[in-house]
Amino acid sequence: MAKDMQIAVVGSGYVGLVAAVCFAEMGHDVICVDNDERKVAALQGGDTLIHEDHLPELLNRYRNTKVRFMTDLAEATRESQAIFIAVGTPQSETGDADLSYVEAVACEIARSINSYKVIVEKSTVPVYTNEWIRKVMERNGVARDLFDVVSNPEFLREGSAVSDFLHPDRIVVGSDTARAAAVLAEVYAPLTTGAYYTNANLIPGVCSVAAPPVLLNTSTKSAEIIKHASNAFLALKISFINAVSNLCEATDANVEQVARGMGLDSRIGPKFLRPGIGYGGSCFPKDVAAFRSVAEQLGIDFSLLTEVEKINESQKKRFLSKVRSALWTLRGKRIGVLGLAFKGETDDIRESPAIDLVEMLLAEGCSVAAYDPAAIKRTEEIMPASTTLRYASSSYDAAQDADALLILTDWQEFATLDLTEMHKALRYPIVIDGRNLYDPSVMLQHGFTYLSVGRPAAHPIHNLRRQPVTS
Ligand code: UDX
Repeated sequence: MAKDMQIAVVGSGYVGLVAAVCFAEMGHDVICVDNDERKVAALQGGDTLIHEDHLPELLNRYRNTKVRFMTDLAEATRESQAIFIAVGTPQSETGDADLSYVEAVACEIARSINSYKVIVEKSTVPVYTNEWIRKVMERNGVARDLFDVVSNPEFLREGSAVSDFLHPDRIVVGSDTARAAAVLAEVYAPLTTGAYYTNANLIPGVCSVAAPPVLLNTSTKSAEIIKHASNAFLALKISFINAVSNLCEATDANVEQVARGMGLDSRIGPKFLRPGIGYGGSCFPKDVAAFRSVAEQLGIDFSLLTEVEKINESQKKRFLSKVRSALWTLRGKRIGVLGLAFKGETDDIRESPAIDLVEMLLAEGCSVAAYDPAAIKRTEEIMPASTTLRYASSSYDAAQDADALLILTDWQEFATLDLTEMHKALRYPIVIDGRNLYDPSVMLQHGFTYLSVGRPAAHPIHNLRRQPVTS
């Protein structure tokens, strides 16, 4: 296993922190740099700051030994062979990725570079970013043979980030020189040779003996496009199945059967065909917008992506209209909400469709009692409790005396509720499930009116005529 590689990771967000501890787990020595002193102090003290499985364990294993946290990028640059840039690339007002943090990091590296370094783009960045980094280095007087810029996009998902990092489907290395490609090959050798998977100290439940991942060498521009195109394609798959689910609702077909029938075609595949209330999170909305904007700037018609975004937005409105179809009027209604995070098993609420829906319900005059296993603290910061918004202490507390219960996030614990308890807690036994966590026939047996996405509704009390749901 490669042991003595010295790596710097700039940025200690999801991607940076996970990469830092996982590189240490692979045997490397890592310096993780962040310009936020409080964050650095927290990480040194063992606080991961984000909710992510196995991260606390790895942080405790390596903090202040194989992973050192610091604010000094100059020192990290001098000590490292490869510098991974994993700072944020937020969406600007025009939809473009704001690359000012990446530029600032490149400038700082240029000021302190003392020997050959490989500068690696790990953040999701648009095509041509590698060329800009190169220009910034050259403009700051750095000789061309003192550095290379490589694109090595990260495909990890929140909630399974550690496992995704250590068991990637593929590792993409976009490099225009053999010298830089060789450095990245060495970084990932513990995974690609399979040596890491024979380690006796593997994290239980995450790392098993696995088939080594493929390392795909491409040009830097191809690698940059691979990341945007992958995320845009996954978002497209979700919007596609959401549109199909609407069609299923209009015809009383069942989208689960349709998705299964589609997914069994190996050319389509079964994943990312779960309909719901639309995709959210820190990546898909931002990356689809950025990719669309790149295409626009290059004069390429990629309006397909505009449609992907449109369907995603309308999916939330459609869900609200479903709530209306079950409750008739909304003003003054008490709604129990399960889920605030953008997906299950994370406390991340960035671009969460669940939060958008809570805001829409409040705007309609409902009062909301919301529960989430991990995301309440973060949500309270942007949406404080009020006379119409209460944060509940459990799923059953959220449902207490509510006119309906909405499931907005696919947390595993929401799929295993005690339905008898839930029935007792609710004022009316109405469940509107934006994540299809229950079998409609089971909900019917428990006496619920149950509406979900793209599946026939279950109405136990009286056979209500299907109310129209509009987009
Ligand atoms: C995503 C990509 O999967 C990952 O490769 C990339 O590096 C970052 O963006 P993440 O944002 O963590 O990861 O979440 P993911 O699990 O992909 O889900 C994204 C959104 O799509 C969530 O809101 C989720 O609820 C939604 N989704 C996902 C669906 O609505 N249906 C699906 O079938 C799958």
